[in-house]
Amino acid sequence: MGLIGCGAIGSVVARELAKGAIDGVALTSVLDPAVRHPLGVDDRDALLSRSDVVVEAAGHGALRDHGAAVRESGADLLVVSIGALADQGLEAELRQAQGGRLYLCTGAIGGFDILRAAMLLGPLETVSITSTKPAAALSRPWMDEEVREALASGSDPIMVFDGAARQACARFPESANVTATLSLATVGFDRVRVQMVGDPAATRVRHAVRASGTAGNYELSFENAASPDNPRTSAVTAYSVLRALADVRRPSVSFL
Ligand SMILES: NC(=O)c1ccc[n+]([C@@H]2O[C@H](COP(=O)([O-])OP(=O)(O)OC[C@H]3O[C@@H](n4cnc5c(N)ncnc54)[C@H](O)[C@@H]3O)[C@@H](O)[C@H]2O)c1
Repeated sequence: MGLIGCGAIGSVVARELAKGAIDGVALTSVLDPAVRHPLGVDDRDALLSRSDVVVEAAGHGALRDHGAAVRESGADLLVVSIGALADQGLEAELRQAQGGRLYLCTGAIGGFDILRAAMLLGPLETVSITSTKPAAALSRPWMDEEVREALASGSDPIMVFDGAARQACARFPESANVTATLSLATVGFDRVRVQMVGDPAATRVRHAVRASGTAGNYELSFENAASPDNPRTSAVTAYSVLRALADVRRPSVSFL
């Protein structure tokens, strides 16, 4: 298995695989110019020559640079930076690349199985997600100074975004991946409503998903601890990658 990006998520995946966490999956190559790794650090050609499945855990730019080439090499691609697919050109390029399979990691949330089943019964009329994060994690240079000040030193929760998932992914590229996954699994980037709330009192990230349609009403909630290495990433995301690798590679029972 090859790994593009060995930061907060990738380093945990690498460490757990080295401990034998997932039967039948071993790390064979790492591509990340910013880190050192006992396997050494490969360029793309070396990574592709050593990998039957490649995990992208690096960011939008890396997915743009390498995603299609991974599939075209015949290797399967497991994408973690799902928010990058809000770019319609990149989504089309990745979907159309011929070769290995394209897997989208469910990442820091879940429940897409029931929502997709509901959509087979009848349309979902509304799908929304409210993400509440520690205030400092949502501050961005493009925000008004007043909003940044409130996020830095205010005491009340403040809503910093209310709009479509496609725009949320563009405005918060490192913090809107779950909205992208929800969009791709359900009604698309332009119909999923996203609210982002910065809460000075929050120490964990909360996601509240609501969907309703012919099949029924669904409310899913998640509260994730942050990665010790990256406050914008939920610690469970790396384990979601490991779970995905297990489901793809291990010949056992799958939760389908
Ligand atoms: N799907 C989800 O639910 C979810 C959840 C959290 C984070 N993410 C996304 O996963 C990705 C990784 O998150 P992280 O917390 O590990 O980030 P991180 O910043 O801790 O690590 C990213 C690593 O990728 C490397 N990198 C950057 N560009 C690269 C390139 N072009 N080629 C090779 N390596 C490159 C960096 O050097 C760094 O070591 C981010 O895009 C993040 O937004 C997704």
